Amino acid sequence: MLSSLPLRIGYGEDAHRLAPGRPLILGGVPVPHAERGAVAHSDGDAVMHAVADALLSGLALGDIGQYFPDTDPQWAGLDSRDILRRVLDLIRERGYEPVNVALVVTLDRPKLGPLRAEIARSVAALLALPESEVGVSFKTSEGLAPDHVQVRVTALLGRDG
Ligand code: C5P
Ligand code: MG
Repeated sequence: MLSSLPLRIGYGEDAHRLAPGRPLILGGVPVPHAERGAVAHSDGDAVMHAVADALLSGLALGDIGQYFPDTDPQWAGLDSRDILRRVLDLIRERGYEPVNVALVVTLDRPKLGPLRAEIARSVAALLALPESEVGVSFKTSEGLAPDHVQVRVTALLGRDG
């Protein structure tokens, strides 16, 4: 049966509105000289949120809003790396590990190219993957969404044995 294949694909996305006076953190990396940052209940790291949702979706485990509702004060200001760590625990409990992830950040400004390797390293370290298994792409919205950061992620999960 095909559903017994030891591989599952997941997809996740996240968006946050940008406002002055807030940090912009992507994949655990603070973006230097960002004029605006993410408006969010947590630290607003849209990369972490989208990666976590991609992992959950691969095993049909819902999304991070179910596990960390933004209406619950206990999650206010939560370091999004902890969200990803907890999600990893959930997929490991089911015998899966991430194989590779590909993420696309859509943001008009600032240019993120200089942070590509650092973001890949940071996400890879959390997922216990080599940096070569984390693809990081950047796009502008061509002015269509200048007040948002948007992240889309595909993830492949593999089961041991
Ligand atoms: O979206 P667009 O095709 O115009 O992006 C052109 C280039 O700018 C791409 O190579 C992309 O990696 C880079 N880019 C970037 N930082 C952004 C958006 C795009 O480095 N915030
Ligand atoms: Mg988010």
